[in-house]
Amino acid sequence: MRKRRKLAHLDLVQNLDDGPDSSGFEDVHFVHNCLPGINPSETNTVVKFCGREIKSPLMINAITGGIDEAAKINRALAAVACKLGIPMAVGSQTAALQDREVRFSYKVVREENPDGFIAANVSAGLSPEEALHAVEMINADALQLHLNIPQEMMMPEDEGELSFQGYLDNIRETVRSSPVPVIVKEVGCGIAREQAKQIISTGAAALDVGGKGGTNFIFIEGLRHNVEAAQPFLNWGLSTATSLVEVLHSAGSQVEQVDIVASGGIRNGLDTAKALALGGSVVGIAGPLVRCFYNGGEEAVEHYLLGIERQLRQVMIMLGARSVSELREKPLVILGDTAQWLQRRGIDLDRFACRDRRL
Ligand SMILES: Cc1cc2nc3c(=O)[nH]c(=O)nc-3n(C[C@H](O)[C@H](O)[C@H](O)COP(=O)(O)O)c2cc1C
Repeated sequence: MRKRRKLAHLDLVQNLDDGPDSSGFEDVHFVHNCLPGINPSETNTVVKFCGREIKSPLMINAITGGIDEAAKINRALAAVACKLGIPMAVGSQTAALQDREVRFSYKVVREENPDGFIAANVSAGLSPEEALHAVEMINADALQLHLNIPQEMMMPEDEGELSFQGYLDNIRETVRSSPVPVIVKEVGCGIAREQAKQIISTGAAALDVGGKGGTNFIFIEGLRHNVEAAQPFLNWGLSTATSLVEVLHSAGSQVEQVDIVASGGIRNGLDTAKALALGGSVVGIAGPLVRCFYNGGEEAVEHYLLGIERQLRQVMIMLGARSVSELREKPLVILGDTAQWLQRRGIDLDRFACRDRRL
């Protein structure tokens, strides 16, 4: 059953559009700087994430594992992650905890990228012992705990998880016993500030906002079983831009200690720059990399990510930001639905718009 679902996800994602709602970045605007005063060679995209230095603020997010097809994809993704010096997560390892025979489909990432930053991935509902087995399986540098309750709700009863109690205590316990940093991750509905606060209180090293606007697993499960039943929920959740601001707001004084992954519909270097300028540590990308893999293999995945990095550097040059931390000092004007939402939630947006008060 699980193997069929994983294959169906890969199949459906190949022809899937993002949305229907957007990731919200069209509401976030940089203020053009006509006197940036830097040369292209001066830009530096190196950042720190979960205590490690990485060459670019991009992450290949959790996608797959557990089937032969997944081994090919994971191998290609790991090769690109190694070349570009960026982190990568494997897909959920639940299958491999139960069935030794599929472990190879995850372990290939270590063969391809022995020293790179690789994250394990399991549901936040799994026990700390199971989560730590997943880490050991691939000698992971971090552990992603995913939260995908709306997706589970769209699965038929004999397939989905139907017990969602105790997740927060479970996360806390896993954080306590994990030898590697824990990243708590949504998969397309965003994290609101109330839950962000709770998650940060567990001691998690990072939150991945996994906002609305990219790959839509409510729609994907609907396509697998019953589109009509999924239809009312297609717009469920917080957009990635909204969630990012909510999570950063809730992090408050702890913002320096918690890394934030901006993911969900990030598709170009401009949105990447906006996500970083809002306060994200790195951006995570998944769906487009599946499409690249099927259209042109490892080379197409690398080309796509390098294109995003190139655009990010272009934005940095146009704004006069030599580094990602300088990018975070640039003013951002937030308008439209995203501004309305955030203001209704009591978040002051002037602190983004009037940032560079030296001028
Ligand atoms: C085919 C596919 C399978 C995925 N499987 C997992 C998974 O096993 N665990 C997980 O945490 N996220 C999984 N995701 C979610 C992604 O990591 C990411 O959070 C989500 O797709 C939003 O990013 P995107 O809009 O760039 O695709 C999967 C995504 C895709 C496209």
